[in-house]
Amino acid sequence: MRKRNLNYDRNIDVSAYDATNDLDPGLDDAPASARMRRRRSDTDPAPRSRGRMTEEARARLVAEREAAAVDDGPPTGYRWTTWDDPGGHGPEPYPSWLVTDLAAVDAEFGVLKTGKEADVFLIERGVPDGAGSAGSRCLLASKRYRSADHRLFHRDAGYLEGRRSRRTRDQRAVENRTNFGRNLIAQQWAVAEFDALSQLWTAGLPVPYPVQHLGTELLMEFIGSADGQAAPRLAQLRPEPDQLADLWRQLHDALVLLGRNGYAHGDLSAYNLLVNDGELILIDLPQLVDVVTNPQGQEFLRRDVKRICEWFVARGMDPDLAAADRLTAEVLEEAGAS
Ligand SMILES: Nc1ncnc2c1ncn2[C@@H]1O[C@H](COP(=O)(O)OP(=O)(O)OP(=O)(O)O)[C@@H](O)[C@H]1O
Ligand SMILES: [Mg+2]
Repeated sequence: MRKRNLNYDRNIDVSAYDATNDLDPGLDDAPASARMRRRRSDTDPAPRSRGRMTEEARARLVAEREAAAVDDGPPTGYRWTTWDDPGGHGPEPYPSWLVTDLAAVDAEFGVLKTGKEADVFLIERGVPDGAGSAGSRCLLASKRYRSADHRLFHRDAGYLEGRRSRRTRDQRAVENRTNFGRNLIAQQWAVAEFDALSQLWTAGLPVPYPVQHLGTELLMEFIGSADGQAAPRLAQLRPEPDQLADLWRQLHDALVLLGRNGYAHGDLSAYNLLVNDGELILIDLPQLVDVVTNPQGQEFLRRDVKRICEWFVARGMDPDLAAADRLTAEVLEEAGAS
């Protein structure tokens, strides 16, 4: 049990922000409004006495429980920073915005998006008053792969072919889809996406910085505004012609650089691209495909490019500029596969 000298505001009930799809947590307002709701106003009726416990006895009990909560760890919705937990860290040098102080606390501000295979949560990692680098904070996105019984990943089949586990017990569990096996698949996806992001970040691709992986959870840079508003997906935008041309240029450059590193996204669509302040960011990369060694690599690349070119053309891009065949050929040449 770790004890830290905490002085966070324990009136915040972050669970109030949970389980809302596409939630805009309004980070600056959320804790304040939660506090407002939980504070009694003078006009509220006084609480009725329960049983034979006096007000004084109840106050003492509350104080004891609060003291115990400080000793045992952060209250519901909080956890100690996981920075020192076993599991990989993202590539060094760490970005300057990343809080690596072990006195930090992770506060969860609800679901950003529930997906078919994973749920993405908004986390604030911050250092409480009176500890280490007090006041420093950063926002993280936590992608938690599902392992529940009724979920089967649509990407499992190809993935499992490529990655035979050396531990036969694990392999059998995966093939038989036991609970243990399902959890293992979810963990493998988290590791695969973490590795892909690490490699692409280092190569200079526009992807979220991978902070850590912890079992079935991947922690990464939150793409959005400082107040917790997630960047929109490209699919949600109706860009003006200039903006569209600029986004196309960014997409082209990213796919060419990806090709130069030997890869295709593998599940590219306007839903797996975020646009943050005009900057295009590639997300959702656990199935990153090697275009040279994967027998289906070129096929995946063709599908990716065709789908995204169709989106740009449907939004008004000149089809001669957003030509799928030409871009595919260019990427293959960069990858040395043409
Ligand atoms: N780093 C991030 N910063 C901000 N938002 C993010 C981040 N990563 C993911 N999201 C949000 O969560 C959504 C789902 O993420 P992602 O596509 O990686 O997961 P998924 O399980 O494949 O979801 P889906 O089934 O919807 O494709 C994204 O469309 C985006 O809105
Ligand atoms: Mg996705």
